[in-house]
Amino acid sequence: MKNVEITGWGKCMPPNVLSNHDLEQIIDTSDEWITTRTGIKERRISHVETSDMAAIAGLRALAAAGKTPEDVDLLLVATCTPDSLIPSTASVVQNKVGAWNSAAMDLNAACSGFVYGLVVGSNMIRGGAYKTVLLMGAEKLHYVMDFTDRTTCVLFGDGAGAVVLEPTDEPHGLLASDLGMDGSVGHILEVPRDGTMGDRGPLDPALGGVSMEGQEVFRRAVTKMGESSLISLEQAGLGVEDVDLLIPHQANVRIIDATARRLGIDESKVFVNIHSYGNTSAATIPVALTEALEEGRIQPGHNIVFAAFGGGLSWGSAVYRWGDRVEPLGESDAALPPPDRDTMQLLQPNFDFFGLPEKLS
Ligand SMILES: CC(C)(COP(=O)(O)OP(=O)(O)OC[C@H]1O[C@@H](n2cnc3c(N)ncnc32)[C@H](O)[C@@H]1OP(=O)(O)O)[C@@H](O)C(=O)NCCC(=O)NCCS
Repeated sequence: MKNVEITGWGKCMPPNVLSNHDLEQIIDTSDEWITTRTGIKERRISHVETSDMAAIAGLRALAAAGKTPEDVDLLLVATCTPDSLIPSTASVVQNKVGAWNSAAMDLNAACSGFVYGLVVGSNMIRGGAYKTVLLMGAEKLHYVMDFTDRTTCVLFGDGAGAVVLEPTDEPHGLLASDLGMDGSVGHILEVPRDGTMGDRGPLDPALGGVSMEGQEVFRRAVTKMGESSLISLEQAGLGVEDVDLLIPHQANVRIIDATARRLGIDESKVFVNIHSYGNTSAATIPVALTEALEEGRIQPGHNIVFAAFGGGLSWGSAVYRWGDRVEPLGESDAALPPPDRDTMQLLQPNFDFFGLPEKLS
């Protein structure tokens, strides 16, 4: 069977920042509470759509791989905040990047979306029909943030990351993976709006935001990310002692720490950037991977474990051995247009829809 490797990587984080101190001005919370409970210091609020961030991250990943958009034959967008139901965000991104020779589709496995996409994209290459897969994890989560609910609105942010997948004859790349889902407990983390299950008519704000049993999600995330990583490691014929870097989904630094402890992986081998971006769902892992490469945390031959957990309830892990090249082949000058509004102005539609946060009402 062919091996599949990551040949390009990139990210696109929108520039507007929403810090914990900004949140202190609008809801009854504190930097101290958010930092100690989650590890998050700030998150980004996008002035553009999910597809815009995905397209820029994708163009940067293509440049890093030395590929053009026309080389892409399969374009996958992992997202749970699509621009629209139809066309898919992948269709919109195809048009924005000019990937005219690609098939394109969205994939929704919530926060596990990137790991699901990595497995789907790699197996499409292994099947022989595709040679250059552009996989993006992209989210505009602030769209569903209800700032009257302090238990969820502090957790999430916007952003995008991307990778290029290609076949290789070398003995590196994706070594093993494990995906799972438990639909019987899907209700403990949900965003019920915008689907067919609601009454027709104007959207009901009460159905609008993220609804979550935080502690139950926390417990299951630690268990499943740990179990799944061990399954993938065993499949790859590796032990935890062989892991050079764990790149976990960034939902809560305490979930990350507990998962690493459970696995017996030292914190020096765990990549964490949640303080800067919060939980960007399908985008966390490709963004973290890009930053790990930029910071020199990944070296040739390193064994990397990706582990994710999210709505569904979904989970996934992958064991990946890095190849020789840790530098991008090229850089793209693609960039988002500058924002025309400040962060609070970008949140005004949320306040109009869900209601004013308590300190503004
Ligand atoms: C959400 C989460 C941070 C809450 O942390 P926790 O330690 O479980 O906190 P609790 O829910 O027990 O709440 C403790 C107290 O803090 C309060 N609180 C909740 N949010 C708060 C906020 N933003 N600021 C200040 N206080 C807050 C609660 O009201 C509660 O107060 P009470 O004791 O007076 O009732 C945590 O459960 C979590 O991260 N869960 C996983 C969520 C997640 O990652 N989901 C996405 C998965 S992909």
